[in-house]
Amino acid sequence: MKFPVKVKLVDVGPRDGLQNEKAPVPAAVKIGLVHRLQDAGLLHIEVTSFVSPKWVPQMADNAEVMAGIQRKAGVRYSVLTPNLKGFEAAVLSRPDEIVVFGAASEAFSQKNINCSIAESIERFAPVVEAARAAGIHVRGAMSCTVGCPYEGDIAPERVAYLAGLMKGIGVQHVGVADTIGVGTPRRVQAAIEATLKHYALDDVSGHFHDTYGQALANTLAAMELGVWQFDTSSAGLGGCPYAKGATGNVATEDVVYMLHGMGVETGIDLDKLVDAGAYISDFLQRKPNSRAATAILNKRVQ
Ligand code: HMG
Ligand code: MG
Repeated sequence: MKFPVKVKLVDVGPRDGLQNEKAPVPAAVKIGLVHRLQDAGLLHIEVTSFVSPKWVPQMADNAEVMAGIQRKAGVRYSVLTPNLKGFEAAVLSRPDEIVVFGAASEAFSQKNINCSIAESIERFAPVVEAARAAGIHVRGAMSCTVGCPYEGDIAPERVAYLAGLMKGIGVQHVGVADTIGVGTPRRVQAAIEATLKHYALDDVSGHFHDTYGQALANTLAAMELGVWQFDTSSAGLGGCPYAKGATGNVATEDVVYMLHGMGVETGIDLDKLVDAGAYISDFLQRKPNSRAATAILNKRVQ
């Protein structure tokens, strides 16, 4: 078995994690998390989303958060944009990358962005065109590539279909998301293989929620196919308000612990990363949802 020797992690905690919190999280705390993540060596951070504040009130401070970050050279800052309105607002914050987000499941597309898959692609097309004309990198998130909270199992053919549509409108990179964390290694591999019909390996990443405790195994399974880019969340934050019952993304700390143990480079300082996860967990008044972080924090007080 040949695994990548280097892996790039995108910490999506400030966006995927905090979008799902019930209690308001002040912009200053979100900025504090981003600063700690970049200090820990993260080179790519998904900061916020320019979505409707009626749909996701937690992200209403998007512009304030983007403006408050002291940017570090070499770090890429991404934001989600579901439509042109979102893109036009986002572009004022000078993101390095925008993310359009679709779904392999019709029902999830309707619940999450209030339109069909075909309509979503029509909405994304001008966003992608405008972003690329402005020199902004474009990523596409593909939700429900294994299972959907409304439709159940999703066949790999539907993932290939969505990936083909994303490719057709000029999306440069796609993330294969297991939104509700039901995937197991072989099923996640099938979703990735379907995506690879349209995208090169270097333009595909994994985004695995850990609802059933499979996300670390799924990460390794994706690496078995050569995938070397993953979205993860510090302290295992995460979830989608329109995917009830789904828990956080795989914890960045757990993935880094596994990768460093395998001799795979990430450029991340695990101790500083644990500090970042502890910072946001303290604010949220709970323990980090990461076994590695818990073990390291326990060891520190011994
Ligand atoms: P809609 O209601 O169909 O939109 O929502 P609309 O175009 O009819 O507009 C309705 C109102 O929203 C109007 O305001 C618009 O101006 C406003 P009003 O006239 O009523 O005052 N509006 C906006 N405001 C701010 N920013 C915008 C925007 N667009 C319209 N961009 C829409 C459609 C897409 C906007 C809505 O469904 C929405 O915001 N959905 C976002 C849902 C979301 O953020 N979900 C979580 C992120 S995805 C995720 O977590 C999955 C991922 O992690 C991968 C995985 O795990 O699967 C990425
Ligand atoms: Mg997600």
